[in-house]
Amino acid sequence: MALITSKEMFQKALKSDYAVGAFNVNNMEIIQGIVDAAKEENAPLILQVSAGARKYAKPAYLVKLVEAAMIDTGLDICLHLDHGEDFEICKKCVDDGFTSVMIDGSKYPFKENVALTKQVVEYAHAKGVVVEAELGRLSGIEDNINVDERQATFTDPEEAAEFVERTGVDSLAIAIGTSHGAYKFKGDPYLDFERLKKIHELIPDTPLVLHGASTVLPEFVDLCNKYGGKIPGAKGVPEDMIREAAKYGICKVNIDTDLRLAMTAEIRRYLAEHPEDFDPRKYLGPARNAIKAMVQHKIRNVLGSSNKR
Ligand code: G3H
Ligand code: 13P
Ligand code: ZN
Repeated sequence: MALITSKEMFQKALKSDYAVGAFNVNNMEIIQGIVDAAKEENAPLILQVSAGARKYAKPAYLVKLVEAAMIDTGLDICLHLDHGEDFEICKKCVDDGFTSVMIDGSKYPFKENVALTKQVVEYAHAKGVVVEAELGRLSGIEDNINVDERQATFTDPEEAAEFVERTGVDSLAIAIGTSHGAYKFKGDPYLDFERLKKIHELIPDTPLVLHGASTVLPEFVDLCNKYGGKIPGAKGVPEDMIREAAKYGICKVNIDTDLRLAMTAEIRRYLAEHPEDFDPRKYLGPARNAIKAMVQHKIRNVLGSSNKR
């Protein structure tokens, strides 16, 4: 077993209607829950680390924990930097042994995004590491903009084709209506599938990435709220929309919020029902099981990546 790039997993996913799950990791229990699920489902796996995760857990711990997960399960795993904001963090992660990095230049004008992405691609490719970039901006309802303004931030298909051509990037994150966090839509959920189809048509060989793809399952929001949480009106991307997206080039689906909700719901429930307990293992153990069950559900029922290893 080894840390591997996402190249082969994406090539397989591109030819089929399933997507690979990319799950955010921040500590040992989250990593263990995810890898145990992927092992049982025999699914390809990307573990991703954000700048916030590196700050929280310290970079060396996360890399070593992922290596430990690989040794324990015997799985090949792709270790990915999520939302690298500049060349330096991407370089650091390449040097630390990551097999994939994201350079997120989506906040810059097209030309600057191209230049920054190219710089990362050059460095990473020379070391056998693959690169994901982002074009278009993910804006949630919290950004307080109307529908037209929101659409204007979506990825332009022609620009996407030009961007891939000019940067040589391995995969591209696109904006079609998803957003990060637990508040993705005010009214009915809407994704711009026509735009996705157009992008896929123009760059059929480029694996596309869907960020902000959590579903925010009501039962977990309700559990959190039942046991003292305050997450009113949370809404995510319906599961059938994720399945649909996987048919049009979406090869990587990013999930963090659903893991956070599952873990928090379980910890809240456990502590409320066992006020006498104060051993962290007592509530972190069930929380780890909740992560595992959530990831297994995603792989089996939403992403369709069971037995695609
Ligand atoms: O894209 C954002 C991911 O959910 C990571 O979140 O920056 O709070 O670690 P974070
Ligand atoms: P969610 O907040 O929908 O889980 O998205 C996570 C993500 O896109 C990480 O990059
Ligand atoms: Zn993201």
